[in-house]
Amino acid sequence: SAQYENIKIDVVGAKKNVGLISLNRPKALNALCKDLFVELGKAVKDFDADDKIATIIITGNEKAFAAGADIKEMQNNTYSSNVKAGFLQEWEDISNCGKPIIAAVNGFALGGGCELAMLCDIIYAGEKAKFGQPEINIGTIPGAGGTQRLPRYVGKSKAMEIVLSGNFVDAHEAEKMGLVSKVFPVEKLLEETIKLAERIGTHSPLVVKLAKQAVNQAYETTLKSGLQYEKSSFYGTFATEDRKEGMTAFVEKRAPNFKNN
Ligand code: CAA
Repeated sequence: SAQYENIKIDVVGAKKNVGLISLNRPKALNALCKDLFVELGKAVKDFDADDKIATIIITGNEKAFAAGADIKEMQNNTYSSNVKAGFLQEWEDISNCGKPIIAAVNGFALGGGCELAMLCDIIYAGEKAKFGQPEINIGTIPGAGGTQRLPRYVGKSKAMEIVLSGNFVDAHEAEKMGLVSKVFPVEKLLEETIKLAERIGTHSPLVVKLAKQAVNQAYETTLKSGLQYEKSSFYGTFATEDRKEGMTAFVEKRAPNFKNN
C-alpha cells in the first residue's frame, strides 16, 4: 500500500471491510498542512475505489483530531497567492466520496479540524473532544465550511456564537446541539466507530451509496426537489438485484445476501 508521511492507513473490522485513516502529525496536533490533505484525499479516493471496503473512518489521536489548518504554513500567504493556488480547494474532494465516512473525534477538532469532521457523514466523539472555529482569534474566518456547514448542523444562533466568540464546545454540548451523533468514553470511541462502520457494511453497498446521496440532497436543494430526488432514487432501487434480495430474504425469514448489484 501507499507510503504516507502525515497519515496512517489500515483495514479493520472482523470482515476487514473498514478503511481506517489516522491523521498522524502528533507534534503539530494534526494541523492540516497541504501535504497531509493531499495524502488524505488520495487515501479516501483509494478506499472509495476499493470494492472490499464498505465504510471509511477518519480519526486522530487522543489529544487532537486536528487543531486546524496549518497556521505556520499559511502565515505568509497573500490574497493573490490564495486565489492563484485555490488554497484549501482540495478539501472539498472528500465530499466526492460515494462511501460513508465517519469522523471519530477525540481531543481538539478546531477550525479546519472541525470543518474536516463536518465534511464527513457522521461524527462520533470521545467525551474529551473539543470543537470550535477559533479562526477569529487569529484574525481570519473559517475557510473550509465553518460558516456554511456549521449552521446547517446547529442553527444560526449557536453557529454565530461559535464562529464569533472562538470559544470551544465540549463533546456533550456538541451532541446536544446536533453536531455530534454520539459520545463515548475516550478509549471506547474507535471500537464503537468501527462497530457502526461494520453495521453499515452489512448492507448493500450500492443502496448505501444511494441513501447517502439522497440525504445529502437535503442540504443542496428545496424540499420539493429533494423529495422528487428521493422518490426517483427509491423507485430506482427496484431496478437492483439487492432490493429484490433484501425483500425476498425478509419474506423467507433469512439473512440477505447482497451482491452490490
Ligand atoms: N497550525 C500549526 N501548528 C499548530 C496548530 C495549527 N493549527 N495547532 C497547534 N499547532 C502546534 C503548535 O504550534 C505547537 O507547536 P510547537 O511545539 O512547535 O510550538 C504544537 O502544535 C502543540 O500545540 P500547543 O503547544 O499550542 O498545545 P496546547 O495544548 O498548549 O494548545 C490548542 C492546544 C489550544 C489547540 C492550541 O494549539 C491552538 O490554539 N491551536 C490553534 C487552533 C486554531 O486556531 N485553529 C484554527 C486554524 S485556522 C483554520 O483552520 C482555517 C480554516 O478554516 C481552514
